[in-house]
Amino acid sequence: MTSSSFISLLLISSILVGSHLSLTSAQATPPLVGGLSYNFHSTNCPSLETTIREYLREIFNSDFGVAAGLLRVHFHDCFVQGCDGSVLLAGSTSGPGEQAAPPNLTLRPRAFVIINELRNRIHRACGAIVSCADITALCARDAIFLTGGPDYRVPLGRRDGVTFATINATLTNLPFFGSRVPTLIDDFARKNMDITDLVALSGGHSIGRASCPSFVGRLYPTRDPTLETNFGNNLTRVCPTNTSSGLTALDVRTPNVFDNQYFVNLVNRQGLFVSDQDLFTNATTRPIVQRFANNQTLFFERLAFSMIKMGMINVTTGTQGEIRTNCSARNTPTSYLTTAVIDDEQGKTASY
Ligand code: HEM
Repeated sequence: MTSSSFISLLLISSILVGSHLSLTSAQATPPLVGGLSYNFHSTNCPSLETTIREYLREIFNSDFGVAAGLLRVHFHDCFVQGCDGSVLLAGSTSGPGEQAAPPNLTLRPRAFVIINELRNRIHRACGAIVSCADITALCARDAIFLTGGPDYRVPLGRRDGVTFATINATLTNLPFFGSRVPTLIDDFARKNMDITDLVALSGGHSIGRASCPSFVGRLYPTRDPTLETNFGNNLTRVCPTNTSSGLTALDVRTPNVFDNQYFVNLVNRQGLFVSDQDLFTNATTRPIVQRFANNQTLFFERLAFSMIKMGMINVTTGTQGEIRTNCSARNTPTSYLTTAVIDDEQGKTASY
């Protein structure tokens, strides 16, 4: 290659990378999909967002980790059949629900309880007009914000789906922790999410934890050479054998704060999963990782953009689907009555 063609190639690639990252104010939020709007519930349920934020603030005071659990539930909802609350559904006579699929076995059970409790509070205040899918999207936003990340407005108006995906479909749609970047790019592209969305959203691993089975393959039988030595030694202490079940933080530097240190970890070869570390190893995603590691403001802006975008994947809106009166079961003809009874049993007065 001549030096001039090499320079042109460099220029073209920097324009391409730049275009992923250039966020002018006009692009600060993605275009809304039909049926969603920022003020969908501002008249009919004005207390919606403060109810969620204040309740979660109280919960996170005593159980910080569940913030990570709530964020992950929203991601697992959106990537399987769209953000329709399908991950919240328990199985039925038609088969096991999405929660029975291997990647969902490590979702935190308390996250589901919290979403249903919020649904209960919101439906008592406003009637059964806010979907479980919308409540989940708002919980994910507040999980990010209340742990130190950016605040952003969430478009609302999702309706809850009436079906859930099979275990196989759930597995196919959720990215695998052992995947390298080309596969992850494909996984995200199938959801109309681009390379910068992939890197920004992987920054969700700024909070929370993982269990040995998700990364032990990097320790045994031979150690993944991309693991920084001390970091690798610590992981070996957490998982002394390839069947250990220990837990460790996803972000070794600031495990309980939503910040850009996850990207600094990747630069230092201290990313936990293959799917994390490869974002730095891979030449396409590395420049984006570097920019986020150097500039938290840029990361926060792009994260908010990508979260809004992810929250609009294949949404059910308008007259499709339903507003579930119990997030873990689709409605039946007697759902409203049943919900009132359940709410009463919990010692709360149902207002409808
Ligand atoms: C890029 C592909 C992704 C893969 C392969 C992946 C994989 C995983 C795995 C394996 C775990 C730990 C499970 C365990 O061992 O307990 C995990 C945890 C987590 N993931 Fe991801 N993830 C990805 C993307 C995302 C995205 C887009 C978000 C949110 C925006 C996210 C948020 C989280 C959070 C917050 C946790 C911690 C959950 C907790 O502490 O309960 N992940 N992820």
